[in-house]
Amino acid sequence: MSTQSPSRPHVRLVMAMTADGKIASVARTAPHFGEADAERFERVCAESDALVTGAGSLRAQGATRTIVRPHLVALRAARGLPPNPLTCVVSRTGLLPLTLPFFRRQDVPRLIATTDARAADLAGYYGDDAHVLGCGPDDVSPARVLAHLAARGVHRVALLGGGELNAAWFAADLVDEIELTLAPLLFGGHSAPTPIDGSGLAEPRQLDLAAHEVVDGCLFVTYRVRREP
Ligand SMILES: NC(=O)c1ccc[n+]([C@@H]2O[C@H](COP(=O)([O-])OP(=O)(O)OC[C@H]3O[C@@H](n4cnc5c(N)ncnc54)[C@H](OP(=O)(O)O)[C@@H]3O)[C@@H](O)[C@H]2O)c1
Repeated sequence: MSTQSPSRPHVRLVMAMTADGKIASVARTAPHFGEADAERFERVCAESDALVTGAGSLRAQGATRTIVRPHLVALRAARGLPPNPLTCVVSRTGLLPLTLPFFRRQDVPRLIATTDARAADLAGYYGDDAHVLGCGPDDVSPARVLAHLAARGVHRVALLGGGELNAAWFAADLVDEIELTLAPLLFGGHSAPTPIDGSGLAEPRQLDLAAHEVVDGCLFVTYRVRREP
């Protein structure tokens, strides 16, 4: 059974992958897994107080998710939530082009989580476009990101990948649930990214199947990450 500390936000990893286990092609361009997956992705984002994404994914995709579907806009309003979740980009360098649609076209509150040294260097670079957080000496510590988010009243986090960021959050044992879409596509290629890249988990992690559904040829699966009490 999955248990987590009551003092930290709940973390849901949301990912789509092909039938051959890839989250993007070798070109690493922004993949499209179909309308059913896009709707599911936006729903998970709408149910969250904060989105956390890796800088690689943001550079590849240009933006995260703005809540636009009327029923999801209404869902957030009914729950008394702001129109869009807080969005946190994790980056060792802390350097993201300000020309990205994320800064120019997405009306979302933005955080950049970087190292302590880079946070000091970058004071002023983002101005009013984003708030910069120092979250560790060498890497960005997932626990420190969560502590910053909790201090801002965040209870539910959607972790949006990519594979390098997910690996760091699994290594820190801070993923509680996985919302996985298995799409009827093949990308191939040994360098194409997968849901958890990095250097691999120290031990296999056991998942418990919580729900599954088939929509428009996609298999939607919800797993809970098992933790021994
Ligand atoms: N199918 C899907 O659901 C899905 C979802 C997301 C992404 N994707 C795809 O996945 C690909 C990107 O994956 P990726 O693994 O290359 O990128 P990623 O994990 O999004 O980003 C890697 C970058 O994030 C930063 N980063 C990650 N972990 C860090 C840590 N612990 N500490 C500090 N910084 C950290 C670093 O940024 P800096 O370089 O700035 O230091 C690193 O270079 C793209 O092709 C994207 O389209 C697919």
